[in-house]
Amino acid sequence: MLAEYPVLIIGAGPAGATAALHLGRLSIKCLVISRHTGTANTPRAHIFNQRAMEVLRDAGLEKRLATVASSAHDMQHTSWLNSLAGEEYGRMWAWGNKPSMKGAYEAASPCVMSDLPQSYLEPIIVEESTKLGAEYRFGNEYISSVEVDDGVVTTIRDRATKRVYEVKTQYLIGADGARSKVLEGLGIVVDGKQLNNAFNVHIKADLTKYIAHRPGSLNWILNPDAPGWSAVGNFRMVRPWDEWVVSMHPSSTDGAAFEPDEDAIRKRLYQMIGDDSVHIEILSNFQWTINDQVARSWQKGRVLCIGDATHRHPPINGLGSNTCLSDAFNLAWKLAYVLHGWAGPALLESLTEERKPVGDAIVRRANTGMEAHRRLWDIIGLTPEAREAAVACLRSASPEGADMRETWRLALEATDDEVQALGIQMNQSYIGSKAVAVETNDEPPNFCSVNFLKEVMVSTFPGYHLPHVWLAANGQSGRVSTLDLAGHGRFTLFTGIGGGAWLEAAKNVSKKGRGTVQEYTIGFRCDYMDCYREWIKVRGVDETGAVLVRPDHFVAWRCQSLENIYGVDGATKKLESVM
Ligand code: FDA
Repeated sequence: MLAEYPVLIIGAGPAGATAALHLGRLSIKCLVISRHTGTANTPRAHIFNQRAMEVLRDAGLEKRLATVASSAHDMQHTSWLNSLAGEEYGRMWAWGNKPSMKGAYEAASPCVMSDLPQSYLEPIIVEESTKLGAEYRFGNEYISSVEVDDGVVTTIRDRATKRVYEVKTQYLIGADGARSKVLEGLGIVVDGKQLNNAFNVHIKADLTKYIAHRPGSLNWILNPDAPGWSAVGNFRMVRPWDEWVVSMHPSSTDGAAFEPDEDAIRKRLYQMIGDDSVHIEILSNFQWTINDQVARSWQKGRVLCIGDATHRHPPINGLGSNTCLSDAFNLAWKLAYVLHGWAGPALLESLTEERKPVGDAIVRRANTGMEAHRRLWDIIGLTPEAREAAVACLRSASPEGADMRETWRLALEATDDEVQALGIQMNQSYIGSKAVAVETNDEPPNFCSVNFLKEVMVSTFPGYHLPHVWLAANGQSGRVSTLDLAGHGRFTLFTGIGGGAWLEAAKNVSKKGRGTVQEYTIGFRCDYMDCYREWIKVRGVDETGAVLVRPDHFVAWRCQSLENIYGVDGATKKLESVM
């Protein structure tokens, strides 16, 4: 007999678990399967940006996650060295810690950048989503699926018992990572290619004396002294300063199996540290493939794919898991609304429309960021001979030396686009999507002069992310972000003094039982006070206007004012037509 669940999710990684979390918040029960026996057993991705943290804040997890994340202080730098104990070639302020950028980061979001190893994050999301009704079956593998009239029948194998069984659901989510069998089964083309194999070693080693004075999540080692090993490696902080994931790749990129024994790994680790008196405990080593790929579509019928299943790229800019979380946030409310009967299935078609451009942009950016690394490698040299010549030139009091120092300085500065890239983190937008509505007289903002990579495009034009500003609840202490008022699985309408007809309209629309439109006024003696006078600068409508925000914090629609709307009836009709 077939078991019935509304949604089956393949994959309990950041994408799948976050989808289960937000579906659970909207009362949709999910079955989640994972071929592995548990959540991530290695730290994997770790830089979580503010947009991703907003997804977790919406689910009420931010405070708990802060207790396991490393502090902003510990993420301050990305350093470039010959070895940890040896010569430093320079360091960059990283992840919002550049003094001149701190204000922009702080203004952009109520959340902070967080260093949160995946092995700490995943169990928390799994636990919270389980509390909301998600059922997890680890050690269960997706075999195939077939779409039937009213759903999808998926064949699953329990890897321990070898039992093969079927589950019927209304929808299937493929969040099964970079080698997605779900996406493959749909026959969706993936553009791009596999790049190279990465070899990571998870260790315990107290490196306080080499890092604490230049604290940072990423410490690049450009050490050319070991044949067989790539000169490029990295000490990635897991816990300050005694737990690390060390990237130490093979020098050959021909795809041949790379299986160094523990002695060889240990020897190379000591070379990269530059001090063989440090005690090293090797916890595990693992290989993974770095890709440059984007799927052509995120959906086919009742099967929807998200996360690394659809976009795969080098870890430069740390965009991978972050984008997985945003994918899940985008999908969860749409799927819940369709399942509750509040929206038609056509809403799901906006998943590809909205998320593919984001996937394309982050894959492009991560690969462009790799170019900046290659430029550094070319200058500093990745063979012993080239390195000797490069450092001799770097220290020489000659015109060649001055040229080299300037070339090196500019190449280092170019990596700022990786480690201080507030724009690419925040500027996801869905302009032109069919899941947003634009009034005929509404004009999109002109962001031609905005540096897309560095600066945030702040607008309430439909398709942009709701701007974050701090407000004060009248009569209460403390402050609340506009993002805290929006989200939580419902639409939110903001208006100001004189916008009473919109408030009534929102109530009327909510009564129709097709999802809630939560309404708020912002202004003097309103629900919330624009105490810092920031909302007035960004709201983009008059005081009697309205800004309607989707459950995923994106602006669905806005209306300049109540002029020509004709009272509560007119406002209700307008809002109904938009919804
Ligand atoms: P993810 O790969 O995390 O999860 C896939 C899920 O699907 C798992 O639960 C898996 O068990 C399940 N699954 C797969 N096939 C299945 C099947 N047939 N049946 C059932 N379940 C199935 N990124 C970064 O930015 N910095 C880094 O240092 C690293 N390091 C790193 C190391 C390793 C070893 C890996 C594999 C990946 C990284 N990454 C990384 C990438 C980062 O981890 C990645 O972007 C996210 O984990 C992707 O999240 P998803 O949820 O999409 O897939």
